[in-house]
Amino acid sequence: MTRQTKVLVTGATGNVGREVVSRLLAAGVAVRALVRNLDSVDLPEGVEVVGGDLSKPETLGTGLDEVGAVFLVWPFLTAEGAPAVVEAIAWHARRVVYLSSEDVRDGLERQPDPINQLHADIERLIEDSGLEWTFLRSGGLATNALAWAEQIRSGNVVREPFGSAARSPIHERDIAAVAVRALTEDGHIGARYVLTGPQVLTQAEQVRTNGEAINRPLRHKEIPPETARAEWIAEGWPASVVDGILDAHARMVARPERVTSTVEEITGSPARTFREWATDHAGDFRGVPDSGDATTDHGRDPDAIKKQTKKGHEETMSSWAYIYGQPGADPVADRFAIERAGQRTTLVPVPDESEAAEVAVGLIEEGVELIELCGGFGVTEAARVVEAVGGRVPVGHVNFGLESVEGAAAYKARFEARSS
Ligand SMILES: NC(=O)c1ccc[n+]([C@@H]2O[C@H](COP(=O)([O-])OP(=O)(O)OC[C@H]3O[C@@H](n4cnc5c(N)ncnc54)[C@H](OP(=O)(O)O)[C@@H]3O)[C@@H](O)[C@H]2O)c1
Repeated sequence: MTRQTKVLVTGATGNVGREVVSRLLAAGVAVRALVRNLDSVDLPEGVEVVGGDLSKPETLGTGLDEVGAVFLVWPFLTAEGAPAVVEAIAWHARRVVYLSSEDVRDGLERQPDPINQLHADIERLIEDSGLEWTFLRSGGLATNALAWAEQIRSGNVVREPFGSAARSPIHERDIAAVAVRALTEDGHIGARYVLTGPQVLTQAEQVRTNGEAINRPLRHKEIPPETARAEWIAEGWPASVVDGILDAHARMVARPERVTSTVEEITGSPARTFREWATDHAGDFRGVPDSGDATTDHGRDPDAIKKQTKKGHEETMSSWAYIYGQPGADPVADRFAIERAGQRTTLVPVPDESEAAEVAVGLIEEGVELIELCGGFGVTEAARVVEAVGGRVPVGHVNFGLESVEGAAAYKARFEARSS
């Protein structure tokens, strides 16, 4: 393959595909992204974007036209529909790099769970297609932790079963870096690369690491597998897949995922740690989503916040308290504190969020006329403060503005509806 060979990236708006697109562009490769919705595409300049749906093979012709290689992500829970897609790829392109799973076991007629069966089935189709292929058998993606983001944005606890299940989470950038090599270089054809992060971490350790990246004391709370099963099925996951995930996690308690050095061997750079991933994604876990976009860093921009929280109260309030966490623990909260220090604001560090309501009531008794909470306060604590204050003074929050008791309650209800 040469740099002139055009590469089609499927899943281009997803965690891994997006990185593959950026890296191919940076390497000077002609890139085409396959997307389902042309109206809401947010991809870097220089990528050719075409519409297509992997569940409708008849829509893939334009995307595959004059393409030499394909990065294939299979975003479905069964391999149904895959034969026609693999056939279409083989008709147009010479090479495919497929994002598979490290848990696929060679030589088995049936894999132990439906997710690995799906990956094994697609690998088999590709092997029989006549394409040049490389399988990227990935261990647990670090992005699996994004499933905790809503719980973390609204509190300090992540409820899950099997907190001691041990995985070797891999950064999406490392998978993308290997994918680009396999798509553009010779020497990777017929390889089944097992790609993992550089260390084994339990789920509970990953939660803690996420907390360290956002300067909050996050902890894992064990819940019975049956509870999680019922909740996930209620969210719409097929029971067979839920059982497969729970069984896999149960297995990983006794048998942690392995660690390989394949990323470094292929790219020349060691695989990124989960801590690096958590730092890169700190914005996904910080703050409280507002009622519209789930903004985090954007929603905490000091200028935007100034406009949002003051809402005219600035002129009339003579005494204002800004309640935030441990000084030095959250750089964004500190930045707001510094900004507010020049105003008529009392800075009130409250390292234990659960004490904020009591502190707020005490401040009112001292004559404070407006209370503002920093973004580190989750919606539950914020609502508790609003309730305790009982409308005596306005309570603001840097992420969702000044709210009445009713406003905060409505916000909380919206948030809970979205989380359930
Ligand atoms: N989670 C793990 O631990 C793990 C381990 C090994 C392998 N994997 C593999 O990795 C994949 C997830 O990769 P990821 O995290 O990068 O994905 P992701 O962030 O979940 O994104 C999925 C991508 O697939 C696209 N897509 C969904 N349905 C589509 C359709 N009908 N036609 C065309 N495109 C469609 C989405 O596009 P839209 O923007 O249109 O939604 C999006 O770009 C899994 O599907 C699995 O096969 C995962």
